[in-house]
Amino acid sequence: MIYPKVKFSILNYSLLIFNLKMSQHPITKAIRTRIDRTNEMEHSSPLFLTSSFCFDNAEEMRAAFADETDDNIYTRFSNPSVQEFIDRMCALEGAEAGFATASGMSAIFATFMTFLKQGDHLLACRSIFGSTHTVITKYLPKYGIDFTYVDASDIDSWKAAIRPNTKMIYLETPTNPALEIIDIEKVSKLAKEHKIILNVDNCFATPVLQQPIPFGADIVLHSATKWLDGQGRVLGGIVVGKKELIHDLYLFCRSTGPAMSPFNAWILSRSLETLDVRMERHSSNALQLAKSLENHANISWLKYPFLTSHPQHDIAIKQMKSGGGIVCFELKGGIESGRKFMNALQMITLTANLGDTRTIASHPASTTHAKLSEAERLAVGISPGLIRISVGLEHVDDILADIQQALDKL
Ligand SMILES: Cc1ncc(COP(=O)(O)O)c(C=O)c1O
Repeated sequence: MIYPKVKFSILNYSLLIFNLKMSQHPITKAIRTRIDRTNEMEHSSPLFLTSSFCFDNAEEMRAAFADETDDNIYTRFSNPSVQEFIDRMCALEGAEAGFATASGMSAIFATFMTFLKQGDHLLACRSIFGSTHTVITKYLPKYGIDFTYVDASDIDSWKAAIRPNTKMIYLETPTNPALEIIDIEKVSKLAKEHKIILNVDNCFATPVLQQPIPFGADIVLHSATKWLDGQGRVLGGIVVGKKELIHDLYLFCRSTGPAMSPFNAWILSRSLETLDVRMERHSSNALQLAKSLENHANISWLKYPFLTSHPQHDIAIKQMKSGGGIVCFELKGGIESGRKFMNALQMITLTANLGDTRTIASHPASTTHAKLSEAERLAVGISPGLIRISVGLEHVDDILADIQQALDKL
């Protein structure tokens, strides 16, 4: 008599856990989603640092290779530690599936190589990360893939640039380093009208501040090297989106090999557990900094998405939870002032990265974008005195004091 009752309550309990998981907030899922616990009953997920996986017999191995099972075969294809990072990112982005790569650039290149072919056309916002610009302008044409750049600040002009062979729209928002904001919802309507894949680099905002998929993006990618890691330790990248698209991307990556290292994935999964609180503080520090510096005598303009003076402030508040950790400003006195400012900084680090606990300053005209001509730099919004600050988690008074003393020396 008791048996059915117990069975019934176990069933109810399982359903309750299932419903709880389904209804959990993405932030909770990013912390609680994990690979199955092993017999050791560890609390934190173990690291599966292995190149390949074993089979009990030839039949199981055959079935895995025939895609009849989900068994792991080889870490270039899949790995439990990497899968945990992917699952957490999918929860945060509201995506069906994902594939993690060795770097942000390999994620970007994989999307181009998977979804574009000879004779296709790519529409991209002009204001993008320097290496992405290099891939689009130098390498895609080698494969017979044409491109058109359009202005981030004028999306009404994008429609006219669409051709019958346009297969993808690629954008960053906020853009690196000019911090332009693009209306994802509006661009996604355009993409859907013309049956074009919308591919969004969500690196600057992260999924806790902005989710492009609910606004209509088909695929979303990241340099996980930045805010997702958050402590300047590992390289990584990820692409998430619709199942069918990610399956095609998986097939490309499985054969060509830009897989993420399980060690990096393990680090990145732990980082995602603190992403929401970190981004909240990065954003509040950045907003305070932006407000305090906006009218400094040695700055000709300052941009931050959540300042009302930002040209696309209304779009930023529509699609972002807060303004993120990047502030940029133009120094009076151009390239020479840029060099002087960088040399005068005492605490803030000069390094080729962003999205760290430690505040970082960069002067794109003399570093990341130095390979571009002056005209090309101006076209992507990089003026000679542009300084990009990746605002860290130090006390905001110390960050502000260092910038102010450097500005006062100009
Ligand atoms: C917006 C953006 N996308 C992509 C990348 C490339 O990422 P990774 O350096 O991980 O290859 C970067 C690097 O700075 C970036 O800022």
